Amino acid sequence: LSVLILNGPNLNLLGTRQPEVYGTTTLADIERDCRSKAETLGFEIEFRQSNGEGALIDLIHAARGRHAGLILNAGAYTHTSIALMDAISSVELPTVEVHLSNIHRREPFRHQSYISKVALGQICGFGAFGYQMALDALAHHLRRPA
Ligand code: DQA
Repeated sequence: LSVLILNGPNLNLLGTRQPEVYGTTTLADIERDCRSKAETLGFEIEFRQSNGEGALIDLIHAARGRHAGLILNAGAYTHTSIALMDAISSVELPTVEVHLSNIHRREPFRHQSYISKVALGQICGFGAFGYQMALDALAHHLRRPA
């Protein structure tokens, strides 16, 4: 079973980007932790990041038939991108939405998520550990789809 873990704009800067909000963990650290977690779950993972909305959409399209599920931190596109939401609907991949920060206690413009409308659920506020939670959630879903 294979899972695509996809990261959106500015997440390549994790570690130095607003550490008071996002912590000091880098995206490479998150990838490493996801790889070891995936191994314990018996998953393969593809771990990707792009700053481009179109590139993220292309990666979602390419995941169809190759991956059983999607873990997505779409960054700021979460709050703006109907196109990303439609891409997820189009490929019908079970999706877990992740955010490092608790977007609901931040600025009002971060409270709205287009991804939530098509995701199984959202994990936010637990920092990098949210990716581990998302892998568990997807494993649970893929073994016993609700
Ligand atoms: C984020 C939250 C978004 O509002 C923000 O634009 C990000 C990161 C998070 O992981 O907390 O880029 O998705």
